[in-house]
Amino acid sequence: MKLGRAIRVSMFMIACAVAAAAVVYKPTPFRMGIRASFPQPSFPADNPLTQEGVALGERLFFETHLSENDTISCAHCHIPAESFSDPRRESVGVHRRRGRRNSMPLFNLAWRKSFFWDGRAKTLREQVLIPMADHNEMNLAPEKAAVRLRNDETYVSAFAKAFNAEPSPQTIAMALEQFLLTQISQDSRYDKIQRGEAKATALEERGRALFFTEYDPAHGMFGADCFHCHSTAVFTNERFANNGLELRGGDEGRFEVTGREHDRGMFKVPSLRNVALTAPYMHDGRFRSLREVIEHYSTGVVDAPNLDPNLAKHGGQLGLSKEDKEALVAFLETLTDESFVERGRALEEKNDFHLPPPREGGPFAFDPPPPPPPRRNGVR
Ligand code: HEC
Ligand code: HEC
Repeated sequence: MKLGRAIRVSMFMIACAVAAAAVVYKPTPFRMGIRASFPQPSFPADNPLTQEGVALGERLFFETHLSENDTISCAHCHIPAESFSDPRRESVGVHRRRGRRNSMPLFNLAWRKSFFWDGRAKTLREQVLIPMADHNEMNLAPEKAAVRLRNDETYVSAFAKAFNAEPSPQTIAMALEQFLLTQISQDSRYDKIQRGEAKATALEERGRALFFTEYDPAHGMFGADCFHCHSTAVFTNERFANNGLELRGGDEGRFEVTGREHDRGMFKVPSLRNVALTAPYMHDGRFRSLREVIEHYSTGVVDAPNLDPNLAKHGGQLGLSKEDKEALVAFLETLTDESFVERGRALEEKNDFHLPPPREGGPFAFDPPPPPPPRRNGVR
């Protein structure tokens, strides 16, 4: 009797194991609509987007198990409802370690030609494993992360459904790549104005005109010349430039990757979409507001041998009036995509992601509490 039950139980367990191993691999293509106003994106041919792959990437993006001590996920430094950026000047990783750069917002990555402020990663797939291994970020070798996921049956079956393979650095990177590629922002107020679905205020229109006009006094043009670098519907030409920032903190940007003198102090031209949500600004978060950024371009550009000619031509003095500056800020604010923010908020909710206050400055409350102060004379 007892033996019969034991056999039945073990038969049942074998049946379950077989079922888990034989997950059906029949992924469903993931469809996305991209507005005609955008340039041609580039999606990786060897990692087609599927609903299973994207869903798995989403889960991994919020997974603290991918960090050394289970405290940090990608979302902690790329906060979904804030356009996947971070309000802290420098991101804070495991053990409250501080990096040296401001986190980058994550959207429209299918148009990116290189990744990071200095472009050191050529593909998104290569990029996503770097923060995992980074000592100051998640500090967990991707191979170790894969072992952790292989011990979780729900992950094993999700990877089988998405890739017909088990968790590995390669498949982790493919899932994250798929999820990130689906984060597209293309419905800002600016887009609606362009499509005739909304009407710009006079101030926004003045800002738009300044943004897209040359500074060429000889021909009577006094624009702010922003469009040379922040160009196309993606609002970046994907190049590296010296935009007249004083070098600080020994960060030499693109030079650290190429070793070419000309690249010293050059950084990736960032997209300006959703820029009103992504303060602080520049690679090191040195400016707290868009007004400070505009002031920089208006009067603060520092000369250097490789200062971009579009900025060098006005000698760091664009001479914008008070109204011009207000107009440029108003224009930049039209680049906010409320539907994208709403989707970010929904992702946070679905994945039970909460940021306890304070959001700015100091360490986040999900870091383990600091050790108690040492006892002195038996009194704390
Ligand atoms: C501790 C904070 C932190 C964590 C955790 C983190 N990142 Fe980042 N991320 C950054 C910073 C800072 C940068 C810019 C670094 C640089 O340029 O050197 C960045 C840049 C990026 C970029 C480049 C975007 C672009 O436009 O070039 C991508 C993509 C990215 N992170 C994805 C991820 C993914 C995926 C994860 C989780 C596996 C992750 N990050 C975890 C802070 C973080
Ligand atoms: C020569 C190319 C160039 C021109 C012209 C230019 N920018 Fe930039 N912009 C950059 C680069 C490069 C960065 C990033 C620099 C860094 O972080 O070190 C940047 C950063 C910014 C940022 C910060 C974005 C962020 O996410 O941190 C804003 C806002 C901005 N520019 C707005 C403007 C406006 C407005 C104009 C016109 C007045 C303008 N830019 C003209 C190249 C340019």
